[in-house]
Amino acid sequence: MTPDGVRSGDVVVSGGRVVAVGETGGRRGTADGVRSGGVVVSDGKIVPADREARRVIDARGAYVLPGLIDSHVHFRTPGLTHKEDWPHGSRAAVAGGVTTVMDMPNTVPPTLSPEAVLAKAELVAGTSLVDYAFHVGADPDRPELLADIDPGVAVSAKVFMAGHHTAPTVVRDPGQLDKIFAAAAAGRVRLVLHAEDDAVYALLDRWRGAPVRHRDYERYRPRTGPISAVAQVVRLVERHGTAAHVLHLSTAEEADLVTAARAAGLPVTFELTGHHLSFTDVDTRRLGAKTRLAPAIRQRADQDRLWEAVRLGEVSSLGSDHAPHTTEEKCRPVPDAPPGLPGVQELATAVWTGMRERWPDESPDVAMTRLVRHLAEEPAALFGLRGKGRLEIGADGDLVVFEPDHRWLFSARDVRAKCGWSAYEGWTMAGRVRTTVRRGEIVWDADTGTFGSPTGHWVR
Ligand code: NCD
Ligand code: ZN
Repeated sequence: MTPDGVRSGDVVVSGGRVVAVGETGGRRGTADGVRSGGVVVSDGKIVPADREARRVIDARGAYVLPGLIDSHVHFRTPGLTHKEDWPHGSRAAVAGGVTTVMDMPNTVPPTLSPEAVLAKAELVAGTSLVDYAFHVGADPDRPELLADIDPGVAVSAKVFMAGHHTAPTVVRDPGQLDKIFAAAAAGRVRLVLHAEDDAVYALLDRWRGAPVRHRDYERYRPRTGPISAVAQVVRLVERHGTAAHVLHLSTAEEADLVTAARAAGLPVTFELTGHHLSFTDVDTRRLGAKTRLAPAIRQRADQDRLWEAVRLGEVSSLGSDHAPHTTEEKCRPVPDAPPGLPGVQELATAVWTGMRERWPDESPDVAMTRLVRHLAEEPAALFGLRGKGRLEIGADGDLVVFEPDHRWLFSARDVRAKCGWSAYEGWTMAGRVRTTVRRGEIVWDADTGTFGSPTGHWVR
């Protein structure tokens, strides 16, 4: 308490358009939860709006959003910290309005057991500006581990059905995959899937060899890979009843398959990434290795179908798949250049930019409601993060002041990821994250370019 009776660390955000999603918001093209007003945070939690506070953030002309949740980042600890680390990754996150991340297990060594998650958590403690949770990796040799994963240790188990440079732990054997789905169902753990069919790629590679130009890469990792894998996932969900979240859809067919399976009552959902919504083969010709990704960037018709999945609310989560590599690694000869790009910082603004370009006549309140649904509320619900994803009394005081009409040029100077480059360099962004607050602390202020303290903690 300060002498005037106001708790230190308290903050009030006033005068903005506050976005709370509500029951139908976003999905049916409504914005019931958007209202003018403010949010007050005290002792790290959202409290009734009649309280006073020490710090006042003026949000006039801006939206006030719940802190965004990126359920798909590769922050590269342990073992790959030359590509990315938590100080850089979490600064990129808050600069993009993200206050909670879920980290992936393809580290060195890979995070394949509860013990490995605990060891990683110890390394991360005290280095992150954002709160965090972990996905454990499914170990093809020990599928039975998934039958009793503590949800406080891992929010899901990740399965790589195809591999590459930074994804060496691949489940190739259909028998092992079946055991993983059975064990996850028994342990009630959600699977998140990198669904590409390794056998399809192995067959093509034996016939055609490796690509020698980046512009040919998509033909070497074609749509048959993910489509075949998603069909397998749907059959396994049917057999075992496992909750399955398919990551980074790249094709129209996958969106149709997962949506049809869900309509048939199966517990299957999907994620879309900022980059599959932002780039097509036209861009990859220009950007080369920067947009070399697994799964590959595809054609305009695919991108149109993915955006349709956003408009119809078929998608559950938007994720960045923030997967940085150094410039030196990306500049290697084509077969050796690893797939992946940084994206946690660009995710929300790139999606907002896409929404305003695609649907210029849509009410901004409706568009922002969609964004908040898929970047906060649904990821929190899907992965069981209590106190996250909603602006409501008692929730964590995580929030973002987002200027919807602030157009600005995104350049290499803006990049906070350790790798220092972005595929979005040269983009005119249609919105800006002005302020990010994590549990009552201002962790990003765009006007001064300053960050808060690395006191993010593990959400369990
Ligand atoms: C990811 C990486 O580099 O960790 N790369 C990517 O292209 N998405 C791993 C992965 O998800 O395949
Ligand atoms: Zn992946």
